[in-house]
Amino acid sequence: MEVIVQPTAEEATEVAARIVGNLIRRKPDAVLGLATGSTPVRLYQKLVEKALDWSRITVFNLDEYVGLPQEHPQSYRVFMRENLFNQTNIRLENTHIPDGNAADLPASCRAYEEKIREAGGVDLQLLGIGSDGHIGFNEPTSSLASRTRIKTLTPRTRADNARFFGGEDAVPHHVVTMGIGTILESKKILLLAFGEGKAEALAGAVEGALTATNPASALQMHEKAIVCADAAAASRLARLDYYRWVYENKPQWQKE
Ligand code: F6R
Repeated sequence: MEVIVQPTAEEATEVAARIVGNLIRRKPDAVLGLATGSTPVRLYQKLVEKALDWSRITVFNLDEYVGLPQEHPQSYRVFMRENLFNQTNIRLENTHIPDGNAADLPASCRAYEEKIREAGGVDLQLLGIGSDGHIGFNEPTSSLASRTRIKTLTPRTRADNARFFGGEDAVPHHVVTMGIGTILESKKILLLAFGEGKAEALAGAVEGALTATNPASALQMHEKAIVCADAAAASRLARLDYYRWVYENKPQWQKE
């Protein structure tokens, strides 16, 4: 795993925006895997500011709540429209978000996997990390081989997300999420982690044992996983000085 630590979330986001922006310029028909939540909001703003050409880009989002009306302000479709889609020239038919209202959810999950395959797979998957180590909504103990499916949120994640819903009771219990196996098939992964609340989960993911109790630790199995963290999220990493040295002394041939 490549671990890039910057003093602030703003600076870590700047690095991430460079990685994503470079990919879009280099491969104008790239397939991106996208995340929601507070972590990537600033990244999306920075990508919008770069005035990139999204006309041939295809995106697949990680997850969606089950049973929230599509136009609910906390649905991830609305989130993506407001934070990215409406401010770029992406074609809406090239944007894919799991359908949390499908009459047949398992069939819809299978179809989502099929669509990713038909698109040629995800070139770059963007991830946040839950305070319990979840990626997508693959909660602790999720199978490391899992595919897109329905998951039940843990009380901790529902409490973490209560801030978006004005209270825990309003947070849905169920979600549809890409699986860990699905995520690991992306050609490259970029995980963003900001704030002290993510420090323990990030340390487990990067330096702990590979375990389903910290789903993000599955990224240790990926050939090209990059972590962009701020100092607070990186504060529990034991090898911080090493990661800093590696990044600051990266040879030209390894740079993005
Ligand atoms: C969102 C997602 C989640 C979030 C995670 C962190 O699509 O898949 O894994 O990335 O819950 O959320 P924030 O960024 O709000 O701390």
